[in-house]
Amino acid sequence: MVRTEAPEDAYTAVPFLPGRLTLGGLREAAAGCRGCPLHRDAMQTVFGAGAEDARVMLVGEQPGDQEDRQGRPFVGPAGRLLDRALAEAGIDPGEAYVTNAVKHFKFARSGPGKRRIHKAPSLREMTACGPWLAAELAVVEPELVVVLGATAGKALLGSSFRVGRVRGTVLEEEIHGRPRRLVPTVHPSSVLRADDREAAYRGLVGDLEVAARVLS
Ligand code: URA
Repeated sequence: MVRTEAPEDAYTAVPFLPGRLTLGGLREAAAGCRGCPLHRDAMQTVFGAGAEDARVMLVGEQPGDQEDRQGRPFVGPAGRLLDRALAEAGIDPGEAYVTNAVKHFKFARSGPGKRRIHKAPSLREMTACGPWLAAELAVVEPELVVVLGATAGKALLGSSFRVGRVRGTVLEEEIHGRPRRLVPTVHPSSVLRADDREAAYRGLVGDLEVAARVLS
């Protein structure tokens, strides 16, 4: 048998990381990442975007359909809502570094037009992709990390993370051996799916205002 992919328990991005950590070098290396099978169906790696000296890093789950097509994080409907909420809370979206826990779009084809429907990444895929996020944190060294939803929370803080318990609070946690300040909130996609969208949006803005106060 010819094995083209590592076994599930050996998924990891580690062999693909460059020796010297710069955002440009990381982005280039991540484009060739084959650390787990998600690269096979996605169009491209969607690496983080923003300045190396950004004070705040926003971490989402994984790119969606639009992000996969355009190669940039949070450019679809969830991203537009996020930008609006950030601006309303007093954080300039253009000054944030935005990234995801998982850098490839995971989806299933469904319905008559065989649309690409988002599928949640597995813990193994999240863990495999973790070295990219760790490297982004090490390079950007943000003063604050805004954790967008459960997947980002689990990727950064472990599988017991529950966004409902800690949203809108300031956490001080050690991540990859470095103390980090974090404000968790819900994922902007959950606002788009909420029955009471306005209340969910207000909740997101309220949590981001907590983040804005930390940065002020
Ligand atoms: N949802 C995410 O978590 N990230 C994106 O980049 C887009 C949608």
